[in-house]
Amino acid sequence: MKDKILQALSNVDDPDLKKDIVTLGMVQDLTIEDNKVTFRLVLTTPACPLKEMIKNACINAIHHLVDKDLEVNVIIDSMVTTQKRTTGDALSGIKNIIAVASGKGGVGKSTVATNLAIALSMMGAETGLLDADIYGPSLPTMLGLRTTRPDVSKQGDKMIINPIEKYGIKAMSVGLLIDEKQALVWRGPMITTALRQLMMDVAWGELDYLVVDMPPGTGDIYLTLAQQFPLSAVVIVTTPQQVAVADTRKSIEMFRMPAISKPILGIVENMSYFSPAELPGSKYHIFGKGGAEELASEYGLQVLGHLPLFQSLAEEVDKGVPAIMQDNPMIKTEFIQMAERIAQQMAVLNATSALAEVKETVAN
Ligand SMILES: Nc1ncnc2c1ncn2[C@@H]1O[C@H](COP(=O)(O)OP(=O)(O)OP(=O)(O)O)[C@@H](O)[C@H]1O
Ligand SMILES: [Mg+2]
Repeated sequence: MKDKILQALSNVDDPDLKKDIVTLGMVQDLTIEDNKVTFRLVLTTPACPLKEMIKNACINAIHHLVDKDLEVNVIIDSMVTTQKRTTGDALSGIKNIIAVASGKGGVGKSTVATNLAIALSMMGAETGLLDADIYGPSLPTMLGLRTTRPDVSKQGDKMIINPIEKYGIKAMSVGLLIDEKQALVWRGPMITTALRQLMMDVAWGELDYLVVDMPPGTGDIYLTLAQQFPLSAVVIVTTPQQVAVADTRKSIEMFRMPAISKPILGIVENMSYFSPAELPGSKYHIFGKGGAEELASEYGLQVLGHLPLFQSLAEEVDKGVPAIMQDNPMIKTEFIQMAERIAQQMAVLNATSALAEVKETVAN
């Protein structure tokens, strides 16, 4: 009976991973008692938008292929996946490290990184946010932590920095450790050391996602991060204007260079449109339209979201209340949907590399 049920369930594919749920190991703890079948369906992203669809497909498969009178009880669960890493490092408790980057300054990297981290945590994932902008840290302002200092303790001769917890996430920034102007005089090697400390000496604990807010440009920090840290993937931010699109193209090219070579999950278009409060259904594309789509089709990437201008929330944002935490259902929905797509793409990438690894093992 158990085999029959597993066989029936192997007809159900995960629509993102394009493999059947039995092969993917998503069916667990299957029990049969009288005419009641119970199992856990372990999805690879928190709050998977397709969960009801997959659950119904499971029930249908069992009813059609095994017995229509069985009572099927599907317990939906999630377990964020990770990629096998070669380094046994201080970051091994972190499943996925996602950098938010753009070649251009001021397009909203920090805004996207902060709201993405909070959205992932709202979806039920353990999430951290690391501000890698050493010269211009913005996390203390974005999270309203300008006067907060983290606890630092010693373990042997090693410093352990405890991240600050706010809005459900663990956050760390050089701006939480030193005065705002101090880092401006640092030179290259000091930056690398500071970044290493921010990643390695912080007690991140177990995280499903660590979102890294990158500085603008294509400089040293990118090389350091990409080469020394186990970055899982990158999310690229742009705005619709052609100048932004041109700079963003440069940073996509950079992540594709052999020396860096990091997978790109897709493109987020920020400041995409404006919806006046009195006409919430209408969208005005004041900076033009199609920038993200143009890049996406050029490089074969996904568009992960179009985020509106949130002028009306700016005052609170400046005071350290991120847009997603404010009472605006439309904006909150946009951020949650973006986070769902990012989690989904991360899971697809993890599954693809796991399958590639299996193939490689078989080939050897
Ligand atoms: N969708 C938006 N609507 C309104 N204001 C926004 C939006 N996105 C970002 N901003 C504002 O624009 C400014 C720049 O955004 P942000 O700091 O996120 O950009 P950045 O790309 O991280 O900049 P930098 O290159 O300096 O690190 C901030 O004041 C932010 O609050
Ligand atoms: Mg920034």
